[in-house]
Amino acid sequence: MLSGGPSSTESVNRGPFLTVVGAGVVGLAVAWRCAQRGMRVTVHDPAPGSGASGVAAGMLAPVAEAYFGERELTALLVGSAARWPGFAAELTEASGLDLGYRTEGTLMVGLTGDDVAEARRLWAYQQELGLAITPLRPTELREREPLLAPRVRGGAWAPGDHQVDPRRLVAALRVAAERAGAVLVPEPVEQLSDVAEGPVVVAAGWATADLTGLPVRPVKGQLLRLRTPDGGVPGFRHVVRGYADGQQVYLVPRVDGEVVVGATVEERSDRQVTVDAVLRLLRAAVELVPELAEYELVETAAGLRPGTPDNAPVLGPLPGRPGVLVAAGHHRHGIVLTPLTADLIADLISTGVPDPQLAAFAPDRFTTTRIAEGQPWS
Ligand code: GLY
Repeated sequence: MLSGGPSSTESVNRGPFLTVVGAGVVGLAVAWRCAQRGMRVTVHDPAPGSGASGVAAGMLAPVAEAYFGERELTALLVGSAARWPGFAAELTEASGLDLGYRTEGTLMVGLTGDDVAEARRLWAYQQELGLAITPLRPTELREREPLLAPRVRGGAWAPGDHQVDPRRLVAALRVAAERAGAVLVPEPVEQLSDVAEGPVVVAAGWATADLTGLPVRPVKGQLLRLRTPDGGVPGFRHVVRGYADGQQVYLVPRVDGEVVVGATVEERSDRQVTVDAVLRLLRAAVELVPELAEYELVETAAGLRPGTPDNAPVLGPLPGRPGVLVAAGHHRHGIVLTPLTADLIADLISTGVPDPQLAAFAPDRFTTTRIAEGQPWS
């Protein structure tokens, strides 16, 4: 049974109750936004930030992650990325914590001729969509990022694809949510009927499947964390996303000396780190930025992304369960989609009216019961 609750004297708010299940970035941001609106928010999670949020690389990449056949998702990514500068500034102010937010942009590169040929098809598609992407010749690439290997044959620059440190983001959201009056309860929710009061937002990553019956599945990602040998800032500033002899890899340099190297995408639910994955990621990383061979390997990790059948999140009312909303299934995009997800869900709860942006991501696209247009969600 769950204990505690928003009637605690710690809560400064006196509005309607709200329960959030899951204290990853999405759950915490929903809690923060709803507490700001005066709701009495309780967030249940035995280990806040220990799911996909604690492993994520933190790329805010609406352009580099714009894939064929995902136009509606791309529009959502673009909309949320546009909110990031304001969201980061407000959260830094509210929490007093640095998020490690960097805006140098992303370089997408190909090592061999074949790698560039493969990547160019995607860059052309991204340009067709009107996204901000500039193809660069090898000399232009190295002017921007001199540490790129001389072998790199071509690339493109996505100036609007920024980055943030997800572990810092979790810490800041937690502080901001609690300062706004949300109460964290370090206990799991085994079933939704255990949650006593008010509407419920399920933001439990891939575990959302057990609570809601929605098809959210774990998608394994392995990644590595390196550190500069002297603890200084890495010698390259952009996020680098590359193809290296057919292996996809991304490199995320942080000002605190960390470089994230990721990531595998595996239809598995274990969290083992394999020798093969470490070898492939490190080989690709060093082929693109040879200096990384001198860095310290400080962490290997495996996390489970919350994937859905169409790779897009599930956002909105759960059919057949009045008062239950879902904010899950963000797959590769949880960090970039955090601001918009939180705003849309908080707006829906406080106004009762779904924003048109939610329509393509409604949970009822995966259920036999539909939510009729105009039907109140609670
Ligand atoms: N967003 C990058 C990943 O999921 O690996």
